[in-house]
Amino acid sequence: MDKRVIIHDGVSIKIYGTENPEQVIIHFTDEITAYNKIKKAVITDKGIYCNGVSCMISRLLQDGGVPTHFIRQISPRDQLCWRASVIPMEVIVRNVVAGSLAQRLGIPEGLIPKEPIYDLCYKSDDLCDPIINDYHALALGLVNRTDLETIYTMTKQVNAILFPIFRKVGITLVDFKIEFGHLADGRLVMSDDITPDTARFWDIETGNKLDKDRFRHDRGHVGEAYKTVYDRLKSVF
Ligand code: TMP
Repeated sequence: MDKRVIIHDGVSIKIYGTENPEQVIIHFTDEITAYNKIKKAVITDKGIYCNGVSCMISRLLQDGGVPTHFIRQISPRDQLCWRASVIPMEVIVRNVVAGSLAQRLGIPEGLIPKEPIYDLCYKSDDLCDPIINDYHALALGLVNRTDLETIYTMTKQVNAILFPIFRKVGITLVDFKIEFGHLADGRLVMSDDITPDTARFWDIETGNKLDKDRFRHDRGHVGEAYKTVYDRLKSVF
């Protein structure tokens, strides 16, 4: 499968068109950024771990009945996906309080809410992805009511599938971000990857952070943490 023109030249992810106009190749680099790309570094083999984790998660979700854009892994750093027209909205699921929620509401990190919390963000680099609610999403025309309901149903399904799988391998799925899009035939799918770049993973026994927070907060051993998530998830395959 040849990589053709570049469609999205991101730092940690690049998307290429293929000879099939409905399919794209998503390539994972070793670059990592934080704080709206102000902080940057290269983490050896990060692209391999992120692509591996993303592919395994996509397979688990598809087996569990969640439609995604994923077709198959084609190399250690590349996956073949259906081309999607992505909705400019992020959906965040929080099983444990951390990150911006802890800061915004002054709640201690680690607190377990009575039920998972769902946030929506409007995707805009210039505005730093501001938080919105259902009314904004509908009023701004980002989604229609039917798609919004389906997005919540699918998001809950993603969490219901992944949370117990990660618990089985000794990891708490603290929070994660996903995006959705429409395929050429109009189907709504999850059109995103879940990796230690886009989710928080905490070791159940030690409480160690196994995700991008290690980089954000200069804790070191970033590659090792990503490899731990990759190795543990691999053990269920
Ligand atoms: P937050 O604590 O910064 O709101 O992030 C919550 C989770 O969502 C965390 O796992 C990181 C992920 N996330 C992204 O991957 N991209 C984003 O643009 C945002 C806002 C969050």
